[in-house]
Amino acid sequence: MRLTTRIVLLVSVLVSTCRPAQGASTTTTQPEYARGIDDLCLVLGPNYKLFVAAYWRYLINTCDFFSDKLSDDLISGYLGKYCAYLTQCPVIYETQSCLIKISVMYVRLACCPELFEPPSNQSPTTAMLNLERLKTCRFGQILPTGKVVGGYEATKGEFPWTVMLLMNGKFQCGGVIVDTKHVITAAHCFDSHVSSSKYEIFAGRYAFDLSIEEAGQQRVGVKTFLTHEEYNRETIENDLAMVTLERPLLVTSSVTPACLPSANDTPEKYCTVAGWGLINKRKYPDVLMKVRLETYNHTSCLNTFRDTAQPPGYLVKLLNDRVLCAANGTFGGQDSCQGDSGGPLMCIKQTTYGPRYFLFGLVSNGNSCATPGEPGLYTNLARYLGWISEKTAMTSVR
Ligand SMILES: *[C@@H]1O[C@H](CO)[C@@H](O)[C@H](O)[C@H]1NC(C)=O
Ligand SMILES: *[C@@H]1O[C@H](CO)[C@@H](O)[C@H](O)[C@H]1NC(C)=O
Repeated sequence: MRLTTRIVLLVSVLVSTCRPAQGASTTTTQPEYARGIDDLCLVLGPNYKLFVAAYWRYLINTCDFFSDKLSDDLISGYLGKYCAYLTQCPVIYETQSCLIKISVMYVRLACCPELFEPPSNQSPTTAMLNLERLKTCRFGQILPTGKVVGGYEATKGEFPWTVMLLMNGKFQCGGVIVDTKHVITAAHCFDSHVSSSKYEIFAGRYAFDLSIEEAGQQRVGVKTFLTHEEYNRETIENDLAMVTLERPLLVTSSVTPACLPSANDTPEKYCTVAGWGLINKRKYPDVLMKVRLETYNHTSCLNTFRDTAQPPGYLVKLLNDRVLCAANGTFGGQDSCQGDSGGPLMCIKQTTYGPRYFLFGLVSNGNSCATPGEPGLYTNLARYLGWISEKTAMTSVR
């Protein structure tokens, strides 16, 4: 009895060390070079504090010692019991401290073995730490516990590529991480024509209320933004913008890039939109929301909504292969809305790693929200892959 009490106490003391890493949300430290238990919590995700609590004694030893311990626990199957707490498979970066790299490597081995495929001539360690391997898409894991609370709240960490775009410190739009230095969003989010210094990206967020501190959140200034050259403010065509960040994001379980589709991919029948946009005429949600919508090809979008979409003729004019059309059938009731702009339309694709979310569209346009007979229009990213890679390459040069 006493013993149990002591252990519980010890764990609760240690668990309390799992708070947001110092400096994770300020501009003064470089998270890539961060060290220590706080950063391990950040990389593995807030739910992984039990792991940290179990291993704290080994964390203060040498990396080799720690690696041996984890290796034994992997073989014995002990490590696997932490997998239930993991939301996304964490990513290894060369710049992380050895403590973090080793922890992440073993967690991946235990929990995401499908990501682990070392070339036969390399030791697992070398293979896992190869940065090149990160370039193939393996994010977009679909949570087994995608529980929907109170209707359509997302689960914390469910869509870790989804970010907030802030203007003058206030929520403005959604956005999606495409690599550690770039976020894409809707061009119309920049219609107010204020300078890039007024904008920030807030990643790793779940709550809408910005005054709530969240473990793993990363707030980064916008260095530049580029709206698509053919963006038309009147018709909202080519509604796409590339945001370059002032410093790179640290990829963690709550902050990952999205998988992009291939040029000839078409979306599944049902896809998911996530955002912090209005949930009724006035109210923003407490946390990130998601809805499942039906997608339509252009013929069926026109056939279904031609007579009901307002104003008359608007759909005919705007439908082309650069937009996707989605709605909750003709029932309405579910849609993306004001504030969701720039956020992700995600469709599931089969990959060699299993089913994954891919970013097919960005919330762009729609006459009103969730009105029966009114579809939402989304920037069709499969048609902008060239633009995206050109702009990320161009703005990666320091
Ligand atoms: C568009 O969708 C409809 C209904 O799902 C289908 O019957 C039709 O073949 C599709 N058209 C094209 C060009 O894919
Ligand atoms: C979405 O459409 C379905 C029918 O497909 C309907 O039953 C449901 O009520 C609609 N959702 C909302 C929130 O109205």
